Amino acid sequence: MAMRKGELDSITITRPDDMHLHLRDGAALMDIVSYSAAVFGRAIIMPNLKKPIIKAAQAWGYYETIRAAVKYHGLGLNFEPLMTLYLTDSTTPADIREAKASKLVYGVKLYPAGATTNSENGVTQMKYAAPALAEMEKIGMPLLVHGEVTDPAVDIFDREQVFIDKVLIPLMIRFPFLRIVMEHITTKEAVQFVRGERSHVGATITAHHLLENRNAIFKGGIRPHYYCLPILKREVHRQALVEAATSGDTHFFLGTDSAPHAKGAKEAACGCAGCFTAPAALELYVEAFDSMGKLDKLEGFASHHGADFYGLPRNTGTVTLVREAWKVPDEVSFGDNVVVPFRAGEMMQWKMQ
Ligand code: NCD
Ligand code: ZN
Repeated sequence: MAMRKGELDSITITRPDDMHLHLRDGAALMDIVSYSAAVFGRAIIMPNLKKPIIKAAQAWGYYETIRAAVKYHGLGLNFEPLMTLYLTDSTTPADIREAKASKLVYGVKLYPAGATTNSENGVTQMKYAAPALAEMEKIGMPLLVHGEVTDPAVDIFDREQVFIDKVLIPLMIRFPFLRIVMEHITTKEAVQFVRGERSHVGATITAHHLLENRNAIFKGGIRPHYYCLPILKREVHRQALVEAATSGDTHFFLGTDSAPHAKGAKEAACGCAGCFTAPAALELYVEAFDSMGKLDKLEGFASHHGADFYGLPRNTGTVTLVREAWKVPDEVSFGDNVVVPFRAGEMMQWKMQ
């Protein structure tokens, strides 16, 4: 069913899941967790804490911390953190088996060393990760990929595309049954690649990559709150992402990559990468789908495809959004600091009920 932009004034969908989320730890976690927990049924929790989550026992501890924070905010029963491990050069097959046995860990995250925030302990050469990857392929543990090469000689806007050719394709030839999620895809090449694969490969797409192109980073001056990794790309890529997300293709699902950093860590001479979209996450996706007249495709993308990929039951409750203006806060508490949300101080046209 095709709809005209702006045709509906309210939309109700099955409670969605956020299949890529950074919640951080400590007081910062306490301050931000309810933005996600109030909306999403479950979230795949990224393991790139300052001390990364590399063992099942740590994942269990972090799970307990998140659950306690959610409970503190009175949202205890509504939100299930789906934990992940951080792949390193020394992750063993036994680590993978323990993660699987924990029944808390749903994926293992590949950060090429140096690719992004807290990735120093990531994989330096894929050959070191081979024993762990073989085990993951055997037992059906998904590999969640930050798909960018780290070679400083490769242009930052080309790093995803080069990763597909140089790292991902060889990896998939070596481990043909490995379940893979290409996280936060940003290019038409990634869309094409994922679309051509069988259902054991999927991809998350963020709201900010659906709504913005790289001009946003430089509009009237340098804008650190639009800087994330993988970096925003040209308009042609944004359009390919929007087409993929709103197409109904089950390879593609919602993952916000909401990644808060303290205001001072972003508004700096060398600012951190990451957009804090959680305070308006679902509303931002609704805006993107509405702009295409494709609100009817939102539920599959936000609430069905990700759950199906991970072999989870779909959520049972619903969420409703209405066409109503509200203003994104200028700042949100973040432990001893504050964090500036994506679209801070700007008006949103859709609101969670
Ligand atoms: C993320 C973060 O800050 O943890 N930053 C980002 O720009 N997306 C890391 C990541 O997912 O790359
Ligand atoms: Zn991320």
